[in-house]
Amino acid sequence: MDWGMKNRLSRIIKPESGHCVMLAVDHGYFQGPTTGLRNLAKTVDPLLPYADALMITRGAIRNWIAPEVDVPIILRVSGGQTILKELSNEVITTSIEDAIRINASAITCSVYIGGEYEKETIANLAQLVDEGEKYGIPVLAVTAVGKDMVRDSRFLGLASRVCVEMGTHIVKTYYTENFSDVVEACGNVPVVIAGGKKIPEMDALQMAYNAISDGASGVDMGRNIFQSDNPVGMIQAVRSIVHDGNSVKDAYEIYERSK
Ligand code: R5P
Repeated sequence: MDWGMKNRLSRIIKPESGHCVMLAVDHGYFQGPTTGLRNLAKTVDPLLPYADALMITRGAIRNWIAPEVDVPIILRVSGGQTILKELSNEVITTSIEDAIRINASAITCSVYIGGEYEKETIANLAQLVDEGEKYGIPVLAVTAVGKDMVRDSRFLGLASRVCVEMGTHIVKTYYTENFSDVVEACGNVPVVIAGGKKIPEMDALQMAYNAISDGASGVDMGRNIFQSDNPVGMIQAVRSIVHDGNSVKDAYEIYERSK
């Protein structure tokens, strides 16, 4: 692996713990003004000191994030569909040149295994890996799950492994039972979990804890942080699990105490 690629990856996945807390705020690219992100700056600014990386689109970053921030950017470079249409119909929306202009530490797209446009989204990932390898920019592949699909370890293992075989540098997937099988299927490629729909804080912390115990390198969480009644407390609590090995109970106390 080239020096630049390694350097960018180690800005995201902290070498001291081998773990990372990514904050995902890219939802608007297909959901529009998602609850909590209508005024993205207001929500995200207080969370930035606790995020190891920020997952965001080029439009959102240029609108709402100050260029002076010192947080690695995972740039969402795919889109082209909305919640009103077939979700898997995704294309690459941002050039590698614009990702470099933004100083992205990684680029990302979704892969819809089993979806109507499965092949096209796998091709999107392969294209990003080719471009990323050329310039030393890692690629994070999101294993998107269609509405009618079961999020079990068999499906997520298949989807994650396909992303690994395409050359992705980080896999983002969902937590499920037998999650260690999914991690194993990814070999040496780090795996992070999405948070998914908002659930009670204790449950979200338990999920983060289980994922780390099962071998995940971290979380790439959105709604379970920014839709919490205490987003700063929640990201601090998640960090304490991911980086410090805190128990769920101790992490929950961090969330409660800082209210
Ligand atoms: C979905 O494709 C987006 O990449 C989201 O950023 C991702 O699902 C993570 O956000 P959440 O934790 O809200 O599921």
